[in-house]
Amino acid sequence: MDEKKVLLSGIQPSGDLTLGSYLGAIKNWADLAKEFDCYYFMADMHTITVRQNPAELRRHTLEQLASYIACGLDPNENTLFIQSHVHQHAELGWVLQCYTMFGELSRMTQFKDKSAKHQENINAGLFAYPSLMAADILLYQPDYVPVGEDQKQHVELTRDVANRFNGLYGDVFKIPEPYIPKVGARVMSLQTPTSKMSKSDPDQNGCVYLKDDNDTVMRKFKRAVTDSETCVRYDREGKPGISNLMEIYAACTGKTYEEIQREFDGKGYGEFKPAVGEAVLSVTAPIRDEAQRILKDKAYLESVYKAGAEKAGYIANKTLRKVYKKVGFVAR
Ligand code: TRP
Repeated sequence: MDEKKVLLSGIQPSGDLTLGSYLGAIKNWADLAKEFDCYYFMADMHTITVRQNPAELRRHTLEQLASYIACGLDPNENTLFIQSHVHQHAELGWVLQCYTMFGELSRMTQFKDKSAKHQENINAGLFAYPSLMAADILLYQPDYVPVGEDQKQHVELTRDVANRFNGLYGDVFKIPEPYIPKVGARVMSLQTPTSKMSKSDPDQNGCVYLKDDNDTVMRKFKRAVTDSETCVRYDREGKPGISNLMEIYAACTGKTYEEIQREFDGKGYGEFKPAVGEAVLSVTAPIRDEAQRILKDKAYLESVYKAGAEKAGYIANKTLRKVYKKVGFVAR
């Protein structure tokens, strides 16, 4: 029997899930379970590189898990877990810090960006974060790591560190590849359609959250930035606002750009914008309501993350034992 290839990804529970991460990534993850043995975790240990409010972090972690499930990640077909529940992440993270160079970490764009943004708290964890991320990945010997553009550099570093380690000790780690999904919308801010939709957008009208209520979603779309024409036509360069709305509409309805163009031919933006809002709600409202329902079922959520940690811990431990042996730690 052919073993399924392994795929792993993590998301920081540092805020609420956005429409951008749903349409761009999570939506496609549900189908991956057919093809791959999938692991997804809430990267709570990564979030504390930036100060968090403890109660909020706990809430975000559980909300994120509930949202993943509501988005179609079936816990029976995917391993869903919380990073801090699998202590091997911290342990391998330490070991790999000793195989990651100061110079390499200094070159990470995300470190440069985040340390510029949090000048008052440039802590060692923020700096060493890519070593922990390498551990997150390498523990599970995955073939693929689906990540966005901003995380590619970290996956590259993971490969470098894994190769370095393997070069010294033999084949301990599988060398993972970044996984670039075939489909997936690239959703931009509704207010600044030239930059990615992000929860750190200073203008919160630019970012739609899966948990937004109907009125909020409709309001954000009605206020979306467009252009001075009145024609619904796809042109990323010349009409970034309208093109973004078309991309969102297409992702939510399955319609092509030509179909959308025809549908709104002769109609103004005043008709198009609320139609996009409605299309988004037809997708996000059921997810939002299902996530709320799951979140209330504490016993169920607990059973999911316990089973996930159990399974993940078993695999992670096998890799960690190998590593400890290789570096020369005495077995207990
Ligand atoms: N660094 C990722 C982010 O900020 C989250 C993450 C942590 C991750 N560990 C990972 C992603 C391992 C993929 C694989 O988005």
